Amino acid sequence: MPVDFRHLPLRSYMFVFKGVTAMLPFRWPEVIAGEGSLSQLAERIVADGHHRVLLVTDQSILQLGLAQSLIEGCAAAGISLQVFAEVTPDPSVALIDAGTAVAKAHQAEAVIGFGGGSVLDAAKLIGAGVLNAKPLLKMVGMFKVRKGMLPLYAVPTTSGTGSEATIAAVVSDHQAQRKLAVLDLKLMPKVAVLDPQLTLNLPAPITAATGMDALTHAIEAYLSRNALERTDELALKAARLINGALVKAYTCEEHMVARSQMAQAAMLAGQAFTQAGVGYVHAIAHNLGAYYKVPHGLANAMVMPYILRFNKPACTSRMAELAKVMGLNSTATPQSDDALADALIERVEQLNRKFDIPLTVSQLKAEDIPAIVRAARAEARYTYAVPRYMSQQQGEALLNEMLAVD
Ligand SMILES: [Fe+2]
Repeated sequence: MPVDFRHLPLRSYMFVFKGVTAMLPFRWPEVIAGEGSLSQLAERIVADGHHRVLLVTDQSILQLGLAQSLIEGCAAAGISLQVFAEVTPDPSVALIDAGTAVAKAHQAEAVIGFGGGSVLDAAKLIGAGVLNAKPLLKMVGMFKVRKGMLPLYAVPTTSGTGSEATIAAVVSDHQAQRKLAVLDLKLMPKVAVLDPQLTLNLPAPITAATGMDALTHAIEAYLSRNALERTDELALKAARLINGALVKAYTCEEHMVARSQMAQAAMLAGQAFTQAGVGYVHAIAHNLGAYYKVPHGLANAMVMPYILRFNKPACTSRMAELAKVMGLNSTATPQSDDALADALIERVEQLNRKFDIPLTVSQLKAEDIPAIVRAARAEARYTYAVPRYMSQQQGEALLNEMLAVD
């Protein structure tokens, strides 16, 4: 593809950004993994010297009894546990502030985040809110969590966001219809518990949507121009695992091997994108979430084929590498990179069909498209090292294709 000189200043900036990212001292969480591994958490918290702990979760997890054994384990280990179970999808600033107040009143020394991506993000921001006197909105952006976060024990109950291994947390400004990201190395959890038993109760569509979120992380991190050798390794491994395990986890609820692999893959993909970044799939999906509350994983799954087709001329060989690692190449005859890149797009579409994920976005309104594209382009500029930049016109044409036809 010919070089577009209009993007030279932006590309130069991202080149410097990549150099800075490569030098950042990422400290990964210690992983406690395997069936039933949740039972080790209370002892681990005590061994770390924490006796007053805030458990951040949501009502459905409490009602399902998923956290019951942990609550009992904490009591048996002598931990004074305060439960904050008010987290809702796409948590707001007010919700985080309420959780922070509960943590302060309890004099919490550590936080457990027990739930999906929204819960883990809320737990990070509550832990940061305890140590940082400034308002949450002043922490939005990069490296503004000056005083750190309470030690966080992350227990994901979905295999998708990878929040257990990222330095990011998202908070929603519902009034302004926007999502705001807080990015800081200090938001990395101390420990991640990957217990596949916790994902057993997930409804199949949630298994599918969260798994497609993880796949999007792996693919966008690999196609990012900020990708490094180490993020390539993580992203490729995640893509391979997801391609092999997601359908099994979706169709056979009790497939513990597939669920373990998905938990591992979601974390690997999180590690990859927290360094390499994501791309336009996420930029558009975030705005579909902000405008219409389209769940994050579902939005990514719907948008991904369109953006992969748009990206293809700029990163055909990288897409071909992904296809090969995912086993999409025909063993009989060697295939061109072009054909392999198409096979990757076809595989994403095939997974969407399997999971009954629609081809178009029924909530999308034609009159909102220009503003959504403007917001998505603004989010990606100077943040995501996308393989190919889109103009406003190209973005609007893409979103027009996603409109449902009556
Ligand atoms: Fe995501």
